Amino acid sequence: MGLFDPYRALFCYLTGEWPEALVQKSFTQVSEDDLSLALEKVRQKVLACQGCSLYQTAKQSVFADGNPHTPLVFVGEAPGEEEDNQGLPFVGRAGRLLTATLEKFGVSRSQVYICNILKHRPPGNRTPTVEETIACTPFLREQIELIQPKLIVALGNSAAKYLLATEEGITKTRGQEHKSILGFPVFPTFHPAAVLRNYVAYYPLFEADIHAALQRVGLCQK
Ligand code: URA
Repeated sequence: MGLFDPYRALFCYLTGEWPEALVQKSFTQVSEDDLSLALEKVRQKVLACQGCSLYQTAKQSVFADGNPHTPLVFVGEAPGEEEDNQGLPFVGRAGRLLTATLEKFGVSRSQVYICNILKHRPPGNRTPTVEETIACTPFLREQIELIQPKLIVALGNSAAKYLLATEEGITKTRGQEHKSILGFPVFPTFHPAAVLRNYVAYYPLFEADIHAALQRVGLCQK
């Protein structure tokens, strides 16, 4: 590991604690009736956010899609072009692969919650900076703490490294449950865009991971 490990630095900056300590935190339970309202308040904060410069270049913010009354949350890195156009996460080619894979197991997008670490598209889909990630993390944290999922699927290397506060790559971490900086278990898998680039090798693993995650939370019995 190099002298400066941005993921670990970010993790320490955000929490000052290690994952073991975090998972022992008790989160306040929010009633179902209050959940939509509470998430709407977070969405309003995102709409007004000027915590980094991305709001200036993005067309709009991309908060989330799906159902917050769910045991399963998917977290990606940041919106891409199509997401920026539509204001919804994972609706481009990669998103359609995710949706189709869920549907293969009889699960629709409206049964899960889908969001990203960043709520605005970085120009040209460049990798988010550490500062942008720090600025946006409180929104993800609030979403997760309100929803209290059984499991979070981290989509792709960046999301997995960040949520697990690890330098370990996705090929090592995928397909297993880990403790995370959000205090809820994280199950990493390949980013569907990476799957599209290397379909033959990655799709069977991606499909198996999605299936395992759905089974783990009881959304798929088969
Ligand atoms: N890639 C992501 O990480 N998130 C999206 O919403 C779309 C593509």
